[in-house]
Amino acid sequence: MTMIDPQDRSSGTEAPPRYPHRHLLGIEGLTRSDIDNLLDRSDGYVEQNRRADKKNASLRGRTLINLFFENSTRTRTSFELAGKRLGGDVINMSVGTSSIKKGESLIDTAMTLNAMHPDALVVRHGESGAVQLLAQKVNCAVVNGGDGSHEHPTQALLDALTIRRRLGRLEGLEVAICGDVTHSRVARSNIHLLSIMGARVRVVAPPTLLPSGIERMGVEVHHDMRTGLKGCDIVMMLRLQTERMRGSFVPSVREYFRYFGLDEIKLRLAKPDALIMHPGPMNRGVEIDSVVADDIDRSLIREQVEMGVAVRMAVLEALVENQTEPWAKNDPYAAGAA
Ligand code: NCD
Repeated sequence: MTMIDPQDRSSGTEAPPRYPHRHLLGIEGLTRSDIDNLLDRSDGYVEQNRRADKKNASLRGRTLINLFFENSTRTRTSFELAGKRLGGDVINMSVGTSSIKKGESLIDTAMTLNAMHPDALVVRHGESGAVQLLAQKVNCAVVNGGDGSHEHPTQALLDALTIRRRLGRLEGLEVAICGDVTHSRVARSNIHLLSIMGARVRVVAPPTLLPSGIERMGVEVHHDMRTGLKGCDIVMMLRLQTERMRGSFVPSVREYFRYFGLDEIKLRLAKPDALIMHPGPMNRGVEIDSVVADDIDRSLIREQVEMGVAVRMAVLEALVENQTEPWAKNDPYAAGAA
């Protein structure tokens, strides 16, 4: 694992390894070394973010646009801070879903923004695949800030960084991802990333909250927390994504909590020092009990938020590093490689 000091641009004899893609649209398709590259860079930014002066100039003169078609608190703020700490100009656009229709209007928005020459666009959208579509239309780097129930790559990277910094590795860990897997882009990105990095993933949920064919992603499937949590190192809880549900997926919230909510009793089934994660926003008393969510020794939920800023700085830095000037005329990936 190579540590990269993000401040150090000149002294080393060899150039730091590059992240070899134009965009970050998902974890699927990345290699172990792509992921290591981003996590190693992020480690440097964690240190930078803990100093009084948190800024460097990696994005000086660059423009980042946050284009959020879905509501978000932590992800948008995190990208905004990341862009500003790298010295970039950051514009936030929250697009009310009611005023935006799919298809042409999404492309129109993208083309309008593209004409203003941003260097990076962070896009969150309610439809799976929308961010990829938009990435094909613009000249700048695109980061997927979450598309429907498809992928949320920076969340998986920040989760991996959180685990790696606490346990020193990802390889060989047993990770239980529990709850509404069907509607979760966080689950999908994490399954890809953890599998690529050599961890073993189980998903634990009622059958109604597991997509059919999920085993094909290489995960072990459990419908009971008692077997699903047994001996695991990490318990990753997911929010019930009611806004994506068409119809009824659980009999009642009370019953859901009783069988699938994480509380102290169920947590005893995991390894004695198992750690708890949740991407937020949390629904206390629905998928997680406050006693375990707030356990300062075992809950990593606050660290996850801290790691989010560092990971997003690393991603933005890695993407703009690939941009040569003048970007639009001299696109090293012009052949259409992602
Ligand atoms: C997640 C998301 O938006 O997919 N939240 C986040 O980015 N921190 C998970 C969720 O909304 O439940």
